[in-house]
Amino acid sequence: MSKRPIIDLRSDTVTKPTPDMWQALKNLDNSHLGDDVYGEDPTVNELEARAAKLMNKEAALLVTSGTQGNLISLLCNTHPGEEIIIEEKSHISLYEVGSAARIGGLTVKPFKSPTGVPDVNELSTMLRPRDDVHQPWTTMLAIENTHNTHGGKVIKPQELEKLAKFTKNHNMKLHIDGARIFNAAVALDSPVSRFTDQADSIMFCLSKGMACPVGSMVAGSHEFIAHARKFRKMLGGGMRQAGVIAIMGLIALEHDWRKQLATDHVHAKLLAKAIQEENEQISVTMPETNIINFSFSESAPTEEIHNTLVEKGVLGLYKGYYQRLVTHVGLSREDIEKVIEILNSTFKEYL
Ligand SMILES: Cc1ncc(COP(=O)(O)O)c(C=O)c1O
Repeated sequence: MSKRPIIDLRSDTVTKPTPDMWQALKNLDNSHLGDDVYGEDPTVNELEARAAKLMNKEAALLVTSGTQGNLISLLCNTHPGEEIIIEEKSHISLYEVGSAARIGGLTVKPFKSPTGVPDVNELSTMLRPRDDVHQPWTTMLAIENTHNTHGGKVIKPQELEKLAKFTKNHNMKLHIDGARIFNAAVALDSPVSRFTDQADSIMFCLSKGMACPVGSMVAGSHEFIAHARKFRKMLGGGMRQAGVIAIMGLIALEHDWRKQLATDHVHAKLLAKAIQEENEQISVTMPETNIINFSFSESAPTEEIHNTLVEKGVLGLYKGYYQRLVTHVGLSREDIEKVIEILNSTFKEYL
């Protein structure tokens, strides 16, 4: 590996705490902490109240990760033996170790979509007949907003309203994997609640574009969160003086995240445009938020390209025929310009 400094665009999970977060952590003392399993950590309680308000839900809960938050939500919204509908390339489908089946006892019915946005007509064909004794009940739809593998695609509030109507009509719950829900809100310049009002439960991450080192939140009704608290304990996620984590979440929600994420989105568009303009053998979709997926023609030497990019100091997520780049708070405009320069010189060398 090169000795050059690496510009890391694999994910927005590589972000580190901001100076404000470090300062807030330094200002914390024992009077701000308590045992959160007893509900006694004032900093955690403040973060949960703040998160619930922002999501326009009755209550919220700090969880250790997005994966844990999604699983807790699935467990609260369903019973073992039921079936859930998810998109084929969603995080729950691909990257959560099959926990819906292993831990939730659920069968999972995936649907295909070119964008990750479900089509209500197609969903209707996937429901199990409720009165057929042979079949499980379909009790939950989970969607992802923004959609990670579909290049940060935003599901718009109008679509969400249709989906909520569908789930209500069929006695199902609607869960949103909103790991990057703030990116959706910034992309459409809307309040976050426009993207959460329709859902029974929402998970969002503090540890991605919001720069926190740890933590995600789930939000929903009082009843949902009471169950979620129990499932969190069952999964080993009951933390004690978790205020040391929560304080950074509070700073993240207080600071001007709209401005930061909007900058990340501008950076992503700059990168995508540069890739598109210079290189005909690469196909790239213009990003709506902070994730750029691009793919090469089949004959392209993708491994050599990736290795050379790393040698020159640009680290993306290498997936063979396609690469992913994600912009985030850790990248300056100069970094983006440097990345464009390195991408173009490397593509010229190989394509
Ligand atoms: C859409 C989405 N959901 C859930 C997660 C899981 O979050 P965590 O890594 O905190 O478990 C991720 C992580 O990248 C994600 O992109």
